[in-house]
Amino acid sequence: MRSIVQNKVEECLEILKWDKTKWPEFWGILRKKFGPIVPNYEKKLELGEEDIKNILWEIERRELDRFKWEWLDVSRNKKVECAEALSEREEFLELKREDFSVFLMSLLGICDWVVVDGEKEKIVVVDVFSLWRKGFLKDLSLVTLQAVIGLRRGEDKGNYEGKERYFEVLMKDVEKILTESKEPLKELCKFLRNHVPYYDWVGFYFVEDGKLKLGPFVGEPTEHVEIPFGIGICGQAAERRETFIVQDVSKETNYLSCSPKTKAEIVIPIFKDGEIIGELDIDSHSYSPFSEEDRKFLENVCSLVSKVV
Ligand code: SME
Repeated sequence: MRSIVQNKVEECLEILKWDKTKWPEFWGILRKKFGPIVPNYEKKLELGEEDIKNILWEIERRELDRFKWEWLDVSRNKKVECAEALSEREEFLELKREDFSVFLMSLLGICDWVVVDGEKEKIVVVDVFSLWRKGFLKDLSLVTLQAVIGLRRGEDKGNYEGKERYFEVLMKDVEKILTESKEPLKELCKFLRNHVPYYDWVGFYFVEDGKLKLGPFVGEPTEHVEIPFGIGICGQAAERRETFIVQDVSKETNYLSCSPKTKAEIVIPIFKDGEIIGELDIDSHSYSPFSEEDRKFLENVCSLVSKVV
């Protein structure tokens, strides 16, 4: 299979071998090497020669150096993470069309992602330097997914403003799904899985006869279709009546394994009139993926769910 994500960051960072006064010259080399991508990137951002010169002059060598060392440390993993974020959502992102590639690059640091015409296909250029500058390198796979979703919606550039903002935007779609969809819970599972790269199994359990019974879900089928209170992460969350985050399931002794791929899990109880009526359960194939933003977002999602079930 072709590789959808290509890492060109190191080639861009060759600029660090040049005297700063010669950086515009190096940019000229990048334009030829990555033609028509770099010239089209300039066009999309409406940048003339003078603008580029000025922007390059504003970039501090030591800043770019720091970025280089941080990037070299994580680049292999990050590239794989980005590629998986896309390939695991093949249908939703219509990857069979083979009409785009993602290039991870280090460009002018002024826009996180831009869609440009390449020779044969569209190129989603993700400026990793721009993301790093804002302290969001850790969210690269989320931004890559956001950019490809953007491409499919006909957007041609965008900026990432952090997970909190990303989830705020998703929340509007969640409201729509819950009020307008025919199968709101199944649709919601699909939506969450498609829009967050580290949500790999998303499903609901509902309380029935004093046990948790599996409801709508997306991801691999599970043998745990019925879970008693107190057993596993789901059962413990139900008993404690609070969100339970396990960032590394191998360290949790009271755990029911669904797939060897699962590394972390978050379970959020759903309440109605003060009673627990069910839970939202999310498994991740990454270690320590869940932050406070996820907790807040998913708790908001669950309080909306409780209004429609
Ligand atoms: N791992 C869960 C069981 C449910 S699956 O993740 C779908 C647990 O320990 O409760």
